[in-house]
Amino acid sequence: MSHPGVRYVVQPAARVGGELTVPGDKSISHRALMLGGIADGQTGIHGFLPSEDCHATLAALRAMGVAIEQHSATQLTVHGAGARGLAAPGQVLDMGNSGTALRLFMGLLAAQRFDSTLIGDASLMRRPMERVALPLRAMGAAIETAQGTPPVQIGGGRQLTAIDYVLPVPSAQVKSAILLAGLAAEGVTRVTEPAPTRDHTERMLTGFGAQLQRQGATVGIAGGQRLTATRVEVPADISSAAFFLVAGALAAHEGLTLRNVGVNPTRTGILDILRLMGADIRMENRRESGGEPSADLIVRASQLRGIRIPAELVPLAIDEFPVLFIAAAAADGVTELTGAEELRVKETDRLAVMAEGLGRLGVRHELHADGIRIEGGRISGGTIDSHGDHRIAMAFAVASLRASGPLEILDVANVATSFPGFVPLARSAGLAIS
Ligand code: S3P
Repeated sequence: MSHPGVRYVVQPAARVGGELTVPGDKSISHRALMLGGIADGQTGIHGFLPSEDCHATLAALRAMGVAIEQHSATQLTVHGAGARGLAAPGQVLDMGNSGTALRLFMGLLAAQRFDSTLIGDASLMRRPMERVALPLRAMGAAIETAQGTPPVQIGGGRQLTAIDYVLPVPSAQVKSAILLAGLAAEGVTRVTEPAPTRDHTERMLTGFGAQLQRQGATVGIAGGQRLTATRVEVPADISSAAFFLVAGALAAHEGLTLRNVGVNPTRTGILDILRLMGADIRMENRRESGGEPSADLIVRASQLRGIRIPAELVPLAIDEFPVLFIAAAAADGVTELTGAEELRVKETDRLAVMAEGLGRLGVRHELHADGIRIEGGRISGGTIDSHGDHRIAMAFAVASLRASGPLEILDVANVATSFPGFVPLARSAGLAIS
């Protein structure tokens, strides 16, 4: 929920370090709940992210009759209801701030026997849903949006048929929604991506025993397959680790270690971009669980330099740009980002909101329709409004490692949507945040 009054005060700090484990991966946690919910048998989830976004998915599944036992904040057992086992929710399903929850549920609910309605908070109620509704309608789903945005109304009792769909924008959420609908459709549903996006749905469907056909940029799924429950180990979220990777690149003079971070190659654009900027990041103890690789990441401070961000890395670092803009502001020279118009339809318009905040701290920049040009150099203290965007709030906290005065960051309650415990963890690393 957005509470404009909740704020961070961050004093300048000069060094960070230590060994940290950031919370579980958000994308994988949502998917583990959903696939576990429609599988046959009991799915154990370990390392679950206990955030508001994932709790919205959990509550929605419970409302549809899925029994979920919570052994601790991060350990759950999902008693799968089976392919046709979800029950009518008897209430509107509120996804809070979570675009992933709302869009993936559109795919899952399109093939159910019952009607359902999906809503969210003020931010989510402004976000585009036709990108999912359109292909689902082509499969035979009955879906209405309110001029493109939620509430999303889904009519039950439709038999879906497979489609071949070329995504107009690179979006893992749209791809995943179509694959989930495809699981219940007649025939083989195929999705082709214009550029690679996170493939957790594909990997996890395979882990639950489904057969997928992957060929180049196309993934296919035959309808009518049943999922078999499995054990899911959720690695730490690289999108949460990102704040400490940048903090470490700026100020970990003796190094900073992030334990067991998910390093699926469709998520590691942040590592590639920071390395191109001159960051010193090493990977150790690589392992794999349920088809998802993870590793310890060790980052050491080095002088960063501005770069032109390669277009192919944009979808692979799509959630990390707020904190990458802070790295750019602290770098020598100019950083240029283009081809990133998708940032305008995230929890906020991240290009506009980041530009406003950078401006408040005296960072010279030029905002473009599809990107931004940032001149590295001095960062002053000041007051920044995150506009309720969790990643923007955390990104500006990292700016305190280069700021010449205190930072006040407004409207930060939504940090709990993705990163419970951010403040104590950031303090333990060396940030002077309260
Ligand atoms: C996500 C996909 C991305 C990302 C979001 C999580 C997912 O969104 O920004 O935070 O879990 O599939 P898009 O599909 O809109 O790019």
